[in-house]
Amino acid sequence: MFLHGTQAVNEKGHLTIGGCDTVELAETYGTPTIVYDIALFKERAQGFVDTFESLGVNAQVAYASKAYSSVAIYQLAETLGLSLDVVSEGELYTAVKAGFPREKIHFHGNNKSESEIRYAFEQRIGCIVLDNFYEIDLVRSIARELDQSMNVLIRVTPGVEASTHSYITTGQEDSKFGFDLNNGQADRAFQSLKDDEQLQLLGMHVHIGSQIFEVDGFVKAAEALMHKMDVWRQEEGFICSVLNLGGGFGIRYTEEDTPQQPSYYVKEMTEAVMRLASSIDYPMPAIWIEPGRSLVGDAGTTLYRVGSQKEVPNTRTYVAVDGGMTDNIRPALYDAVYEAVTANKMNEAHDEVVTLAGKCCESGDQLIQNARLARAEAGDVIALFCTGAYTYAMASNYNRLAKPAVVFCEDGRHTLVGRRETLEDLVRLDVPLEKDWLS
Ligand code: LLP
Repeated sequence: MFLHGTQAVNEKGHLTIGGCDTVELAETYGTPTIVYDIALFKERAQGFVDTFESLGVNAQVAYASKAYSSVAIYQLAETLGLSLDVVSEGELYTAVKAGFPREKIHFHGNNKSESEIRYAFEQRIGCIVLDNFYEIDLVRSIARELDQSMNVLIRVTPGVEASTHSYITTGQEDSKFGFDLNNGQADRAFQSLKDDEQLQLLGMHVHIGSQIFEVDGFVKAAEALMHKMDVWRQEEGFICSVLNLGGGFGIRYTEEDTPQQPSYYVKEMTEAVMRLASSIDYPMPAIWIEPGRSLVGDAGTTLYRVGSQKEVPNTRTYVAVDGGMTDNIRPALYDAVYEAVTANKMNEAHDEVVTLAGKCCESGDQLIQNARLARAEAGDVIALFCTGAYTYAMASNYNRLAKPAVVFCEDGRHTLVGRRETLEDLVRLDVPLEKDWLS
């Protein structure tokens, strides 16, 4: 079992996070509940900030909040000096509710709607990352109409294939995202923007994918963009002041995973840019990054309670918990592998190999195939590690299950930041039929 961050075992043999007894948290808030280790989130954020400081590079660390979006995490992100990457009106609205400084918000997405773009202008956010020609025209026409300017970046796909699940690679040529760097699209976007007085072109953006362990892809992508920046300088005398290198830094989900520290990837990429900049005598651009998973992923732990069990003789034992693919779709969607512990039996041997199943009406609703747990009994509290990213954010109400509660823990304190959905919440969007439909 791998404990990480502030996780420890107390005198009762219970798992603690941020000095809080997880069995008591399960009592207090119910289950499932996602618990965030706030000290670990802060440590991860500081790791990125310190890396740039030690390199002496002008930088922005933008939290890619699609990983977990809430008012509370945005409030914390602000105190840590982070910028924010949002991808929808919904995320932007959440940031506005959190009072996040608008000039530090970057807006992403491959199909931003007109109303989303108008909202971004209204809020005077820091930057729109332009993804396609349709969007350039749309953003430009809104800027003209409002007589307002906006910083923009051009998102490019550099043709770098990252070794990760195919659903989460984004840097390859055949991608729905961005302008192709090699077939002339990025150049056309540049030509269209370079002299625009209202859309102020800061530079380029790249994001090659997510949960990547190899540093090579990141470095190659950064170099490819620098080469293009050099071409634009030589041909047009244009200097990019910002290079946004995206996120995607892999994290450890299980003991078998051996990623580098997230900040290691950033250091390697940035040093590659520094080397190239100095060799071609290009003014060092500001480096922006957008980590999501590597900021919140391993800070999150989901607490479930065990209910039924079923033994399939000579095959396996299913241990079912009170959540599943509704609060964590990743095993079903990406074959993602997790580890869990029996939080109320930390001092007992974890030598029962079982399939940890959810409660949804799908055979594929399995959270862990071969979980090693203490002998399971109804009422046990299971803690599933590293669920801070893309779990709550991707949660659904399949089978009309309620979305879980979210709790932050630090230094022995805990606080609710996401209320568990109630039955009333589950029907709040339903509109009953009038009588004339029922006769
Ligand atoms: N920047 C852009 C433009 C992105 O598209 C993403 C993630 C990020 C930054 C943050 O990437 P991260 O540091 O979190 O890897 N649902 C999938 C992951 C999808 C990632 C989407 N884009 C999963 O559960 O693995």
